[in-house]
Amino acid sequence: MSDAALAAPDTTQAADQSPAIKARGMSKQFGELRAVDDVDLTVPRACVYGFLGPNGSGKSTTIRMLCGLLTPSAGEIEVLGLKIPEQAEALRRRIGYMTQKFSLFEDLTVRENLEFLAAVQDIPKAKARQRIDELVEQYHFADRQKQLAGTMSGGQKQRLALAGAVIHGPELLFLDEPTSAVDPESRRDFWEKLFELADAGTTLLVSTHYMDEAERCHRLAILDQGKLVADGTPAELTGALADRAIEVRAA
Ligand SMILES: Nc1ncnc2c1ncn2[C@@H]1O[C@H](COP(=O)(O)OP(=O)(O)OP(=O)(O)O)[C@@H](O)[C@H]1O
Ligand SMILES: [Mg+2]
Repeated sequence: MSDAALAAPDTTQAADQSPAIKARGMSKQFGELRAVDDVDLTVPRACVYGFLGPNGSGKSTTIRMLCGLLTPSAGEIEVLGLKIPEQAEALRRRIGYMTQKFSLFEDLTVRENLEFLAAVQDIPKAKARQRIDELVEQYHFADRQKQLAGTMSGGQKQRLALAGAVIHGPELLFLDEPTSAVDPESRRDFWEKLFELADAGTTLLVSTHYMDEAERCHRLAILDQGKLVADGTPAELTGALADRAIEVRAA
């Protein structure tokens, strides 16, 4: 892998104004269930794009289709200029994917986990050492490099998972409820890192249940029962509600 591929995304690519993700009529059928129903999505580059919706609304299914991990039943998808799922293999090296479930090895140390991920990404040894040193510093693991990943707190584990997901310098990062098992302060720290990545040119698509996280996104899409029910900036979406009185009665 070249040096450029490991650094922050190439500015010639950042200058590319075409959206990072463009999907039209994206659908996924599981037997009788239409888990994702005719979704159109446009995600601009270098932004934090939020994905909000209740349990079972199709967030994870959508993300898996966009990554090329799941074949859509219908629709056209273009991610970083590649046709998905046809060109999913070429996409794989340019994206990162992180889920709520801690997917690293609990019985490897912090550094060993990063070394393993660097090897999976075919990063040459010397280059990997340099990149891991950089990540250990940026993600505040300097005094925990030898700690077993399984012994860390939920927040630390997700921070490590994020460092691992960006080890190859992906242009686009998919995060599926990355903070659902994390306390509020760690969630704030985690989101700081997401905005740093976006500032450096990375595009982030992040699903969440938390309204406070959704409000911080540059743009948002809201899914309900597989359908895209709203999208826009948080200000546009809350503005659309401004003239409506909502009364909630409870026992
Ligand atoms: N492989 C599968 N086979 C059958 N049904 C599935 C499959 N994957 C997801 N589903 C169904 O599709 C619907 C959408 O699921 P999905 O996991 O995408 O929702 P979600 O918005 O990510 O929910 P959550 O917030 O709970 O993670 C659900 O009803 C789920 O049961
Ligand atoms: Mg999900």
